[in-house]
Amino acid sequence: MTVNTRERLWWKQAVIYQIYPASFCDSNGDGIGDLPGITSKLDYIASLGVDVIWICPMYDSPQVDMGYDISNYEDVYRPYGTVQDMETLIQETHARGMRIMLDLVINHTSDQHAWFKESRFSKDSPKRDWYIWRPAKYSPSGERLPPNNWRSNFGGGSAWEWDELTQEYYLHLFATEQPDVNWENPETRKAIYASAMEFWLERGVDGFRVDTVNMYSKPPTLPDAPIVDPETPYQPAGMIYCNGPRMHEFLSEMNVILEKYGAITVGELPCTPDTQRVLKYVSAKAKQLNMVFQFDIVDIGMGKTHKFATTPRNFRLSDFKAAVDLTQALIRGTDGWSTVFLENHDQARSVSRFTDDRPEYRVRGAKLLALMQACLSGTQYVYQGQEIGLVNVPKESYPIENYLDIDSTQFYTMVQERYGADNKAELAKAFDAIQYLARDHARVPIPWNGKAKYGGFSEAAEKAGTEVKEPWMKPHPLAGEINVASQLDDPSSVLAYWRKMLRFRQDHAHLLVYGDFKDLLPEDESLFMFVKESEHDRDRVLVVLNFTPMEKTWSVPNPAKLGVAESSELIPIMSTHSGKSRIEMVAMKT
Ligand code: GLC
Ligand code: CA
Repeated sequence: MTVNTRERLWWKQAVIYQIYPASFCDSNGDGIGDLPGITSKLDYIASLGVDVIWICPMYDSPQVDMGYDISNYEDVYRPYGTVQDMETLIQETHARGMRIMLDLVINHTSDQHAWFKESRFSKDSPKRDWYIWRPAKYSPSGERLPPNNWRSNFGGGSAWEWDELTQEYYLHLFATEQPDVNWENPETRKAIYASAMEFWLERGVDGFRVDTVNMYSKPPTLPDAPIVDPETPYQPAGMIYCNGPRMHEFLSEMNVILEKYGAITVGELPCTPDTQRVLKYVSAKAKQLNMVFQFDIVDIGMGKTHKFATTPRNFRLSDFKAAVDLTQALIRGTDGWSTVFLENHDQARSVSRFTDDRPEYRVRGAKLLALMQACLSGTQYVYQGQEIGLVNVPKESYPIENYLDIDSTQFYTMVQERYGADNKAELAKAFDAIQYLARDHARVPIPWNGKAKYGGFSEAAEKAGTEVKEPWMKPHPLAGEINVASQLDDPSSVLAYWRKMLRFRQDHAHLLVYGDFKDLLPEDESLFMFVKESEHDRDRVLVVLNFTPMEKTWSVPNPAKLGVAESSELIPIMSTHSGKSRIEMVAMKT
């Protein structure tokens, strides 16, 4: 297939803005973000050039994993609002010409969901088989053991929990309070579709971001994972339990419903480094998902045995470029589609991870990454706060006690248990990794106004004279320097640059959104130089990005390498800076 036949569809060209309800905007001063807060910022979001908003889970939940543990799909977590507030948000989003996607979390529920409570109650419960129960194994010495050696995704413990009441284990790939649903049971699947999908599709939502989409189907024998961490009995098992044998059957079944409503989907696809495997989910012909989030880029610099078993900036630029190439390769000569993202609620801030976040460099770093993303093919995602160049919370002003995410706290506890709570060296190493990679960085309340209380997180309530509580998570210590209000009217701000970039991307969509990507210097450890080409015309875009804090010289590649005629001329069309003295990055069109 040639690029000529790459089908153009609205959602391919869309910009999708992700919102984390707890931390976006607090309307009533209780220190917790809420749905009316989101509604109050829709004009701001629309002004960025956004087409779709995606809201992280706002469902009823005990919040063990910030709403990814759902106790009722058909209600809203009360501090965020009500179903009626959701209806208003849906309506107001549509009124501004935007669409709205929700997070579909159906690999597991909360242990407080009525289905699990019933399942847990007795072995004869009609819902026993709605979850994954197994008898214990026993060691030769008679010690009770879980059914296999899988490690849960949080901390270092087993993915199985022993239940005293009925004397069996249940599976939870994530927290103990997030039991995995048994997708093998058709009755369960039907109930999920009705409660989690149709309830909201009927209320007008336009699509779903599908959480952990490749974990529904487990390998039937639940085999042990290979041992990569000999210090513990429990092993990372993602490569075993992801992409199980019935995945595509389940997705086809879901699609019957999605198609009825014209809903779009983007699936979260961890543990799938193989492009051919990814394609099975996003090939247009296969009718499974519209898009997926691959992990190649965001996994960069993470530890092998455990995400946090690493040191900051433990990767080379060539690794980063190879990962970008993998996601771009997904559409080369195929009918698949890709996504462009560096951030979400599970990732630390991209400026801190991939560039230099020291005060003198962070604005340049944010613009560099904005330009890079605007020039990559696939549907573009922007995470709240990314548009103002938010960086990780600093080490000195944000102690470990401020980190609240279960992923961070369970890792830190594991290190304490393994090495001793007084092992300063190991704890310092753990804190370094958390300061670099924790999900908390993305979950710090948005600083709307550096001059208002708590960075303006509850500004509307404060203005209305309501007493404002401290946010649920300590505010960003740099809220005075990096906030929305100070960037709104500043043409040199990161915010202004993102707006410009999102327009620029649309203006050259045939190359930037739909074009084919070619890395010209894959081995270079300072520069990222790539070309975008389209069969629609002979134009090429050359993008040159300097990932070092130093000045770099570079020369224009010869026409043959660019795939253009000898006589072609290169015209600069975009830069991150106006002065000519420093060439940090440029995009040029032939
Ligand atoms: C996904 C979510 C993450 C959550 C996990 C369990 O990875 O993005 O936030 O913890 O699933 O639902
Ligand atoms: Ca609130």
